Amino acid sequence: MAQFTSANDEKELALQKEYMKKAASYVAGLEVQIGHKPLCCVTTFGCQMNARDSEKLLGILTQIGYEPTDREEEADFVIYNTCTVRDNANQRVYGRLGFLNSLKRKKPHLRIALCGCMMQENSVIEKIRKSYRFVDLIFGTHNIFKFAQLLVTMFENNEMLIDIWNETDQIVEDLPVNRKYSYKSGINIMFGCNNFCSYCIVPYVRGRERSREPKDILTEIERLVEDGVVEVMLLGQNVNSYGKNLEHPITFAQLLREVEQIEGLRRIRFMTSHPKDLSDELIEVMSKSEKICRHLHLPVQAGSDRILQAMNRRYTKEQYLALVNKIKTAMPDIAITTDLIVGFPGETLEDVEETIDVVKKVGYDNAFTFIYSKRTGTPAAAMTNQVPDEVVKEGFDKLLKVVQDTARERAALLRGQVMEALVEEINEQDESLVTGRLSNNMLVHFPADKTLIGQIVRVSLDTCHGFYYTGHIVE
Ligand code: SAH
Ligand code: SF4
Ligand code: F3S
Repeated sequence: MAQFTSANDEKELALQKEYMKKAASYVAGLEVQIGHKPLCCVTTFGCQMNARDSEKLLGILTQIGYEPTDREEEADFVIYNTCTVRDNANQRVYGRLGFLNSLKRKKPHLRIALCGCMMQENSVIEKIRKSYRFVDLIFGTHNIFKFAQLLVTMFENNEMLIDIWNETDQIVEDLPVNRKYSYKSGINIMFGCNNFCSYCIVPYVRGRERSREPKDILTEIERLVEDGVVEVMLLGQNVNSYGKNLEHPITFAQLLREVEQIEGLRRIRFMTSHPKDLSDELIEVMSKSEKICRHLHLPVQAGSDRILQAMNRRYTKEQYLALVNKIKTAMPDIAITTDLIVGFPGETLEDVEETIDVVKKVGYDNAFTFIYSKRTGTPAAAMTNQVPDEVVKEGFDKLLKVVQDTARERAALLRGQVMEALVEEINEQDESLVTGRLSNNMLVHFPADKTLIGQIVRVSLDTCHGFYYTGHIVE
């Protein structure tokens, strides 16, 4: 396998900053033409990694003179940061593109861009090229750091601009970022995935695993903390294999130890952990930590050993349950969440019973339950024993009920406890309340005003409403 560099590419960074200046002059020209500051709208599909990428896109757009808006219909630049992990994500993008076409007919200066995972698929590019001619700019996941340069090329041409790379060994960070929340932030610690679970398209669209240098990650977090961030989420498709390919390899647990030292940082989260790589060292670091949150997202996907093997997950049900036991013994108050797939090729209703058994034995605090989606190019898509829709639906409904009952039971156990909550926002339905997040990732709503946003307060969990609580501040 090729050796990838992982230090930040300073030369490329300087180049992109030059392009930002040039792009700014085009946006200034547009402002004169339309008579107001041009508005941009960034729409994100998919996971936390895409959400972080969108903050980078918005960072560049605001730097070059656009004003952000959530209202697509009033924007002068619209970009969709797409996901292709399941087909329904793709269908949503195609559906909304039709609406954008009608907007552009009314407003010819509107520029439309598409980026993200879906754009890494040849069939998607062919379809857009043929049926969505009004799109101005298309790029993928590997050259997102070229955004400023691509915008300049777009402004200088009237043709559809398509730039998709199959792979990259460059890591270019430190470009402007426009964070969605002032008090919390995601941080990429690694990119790509080497696991090739047989159903999953992510390794094909995000490329091979590359870790960032620890010192670059630590510096980024230190700067965020100076800027008011109290909670970070370390992001990677499989954080437990962080650091393996670095010139001076370090483990994820060692990285966490260093992040913990950062003064002023209050909470550390991470996503996602692959069970096969979760080490005893990580459990030990977590259990001793003051800052690492009491939450572990540990996707199991399925409970049947036969299906787990066909999925190429590289653990058995028994190994997974033993791992969960070890984690719960070390941290009895930890919340464990998971991802589940129903309808993988060859899966029977008996296999689904095995998944249900795992849910009951682990007692998940929450579980994302997905219907298997066939992704072209993955090994599972070529399997001949695809499961009929009715069978999938029966298994899915049954599993979902157990998942929800289990989550409710787990939530109810916390009634009456006093816990720390990070105040995130004013409650959407009731302005006299704020919404806080507990260390275990559960939400609690309680009376307070917006001056507390970004602060950690002690809250009594008074009433359980299924998956969340209402409560009150305890001085
Ligand atoms: N790297 C993470 C998950 C990334 S994708 C991990 O391994 O845990 C997020 C979730 O989407 C996966 O955990 C899986 O449950 C689901 N998923 C991935 N591919 C899928 C497919 N083809 N059909 C249905 N769900 C899928
Ligand atoms: Fe997909 Fe598996 Fe990689 Fe997760 S670990 S991104 S499910 S291939
Ligand atoms: Fe989707 Fe890409 Fe994330 S396919 S789940 S946005 S890595």
